[in-house]
Amino acid sequence: MKYFLDSAKLDEIEEAYETFGIDGITTNPRHIQNSGKPFLTAINDIAKWVKDKGLTGYETFPVSVEINPHLDDVDEMIAMAKEVAAISPNFVIKIPSTEAGITAARKLEKEGIRTNVTLVFSPSQAILPAKNGSLFVSPFLGWKEANGEDCRAYIEDIVAIYKNYGFYGKTQIICAAIRSAKQIVDCARAGADIVTCGLDVYKETIKHPYTNQGLEIFCDAYDNTAK
Ligand code: E4P
Repeated sequence: MKYFLDSAKLDEIEEAYETFGIDGITTNPRHIQNSGKPFLTAINDIAKWVKDKGLTGYETFPVSVEINPHLDDVDEMIAMAKEVAAISPNFVIKIPSTEAGITAARKLEKEGIRTNVTLVFSPSQAILPAKNGSLFVSPFLGWKEANGEDCRAYIEDIVAIYKNYGFYGKTQIICAAIRSAKQIVDCARAGADIVTCGLDVYKETIKHPYTNQGLEIFCDAYDNTAK
């Protein structure tokens, strides 16, 4: 399972790449806002970072960039998607799961512009992006679980549907808005292709209180043998 970083902050991207070897980046308007930069500056800076690292191409290191969420006209969505896609060969265009969004994503894929259908909250919403050949689909977990819903069956259903119809691995499932190590394990167990979450969540996944306790025990024992 691949790990993507959900952030538009260059310091977090650098740390996540160098420490954990993340496989790609996802952004959304909120992450761009949190970077403190205007939209175009933020995405151009990420494009430069990717190029400087020698990670050129969405096949090597995909970076999902969302178009203006106010747009609800297919032609306007496509026009903005083309402008954003022209900035970097790593960019995959994030489009919401609306009627206009699904139409725009289908047309963009036909023209060779890769898409990530986002704001997906049900297995039924994950089917058309796959039928239409989107590179990614982004079912959100964190928002649903914050709403009291259990997400295991939700991801298992999407994986099962994709396997039934040969979509599995072609349209890759990015489990998004991941908030905990448990959610990562649920996604891995279900067979999701990718998880995306913040750096703090990845840092939590490598911790366990017994690891710290064990280190103390081994340090004491080591010190005794050094006497
Ligand atoms: C990723 O593709 C999504 O935009 C993201 O996971 C949403 O997460 P957030 O709630 O942390 O912004």
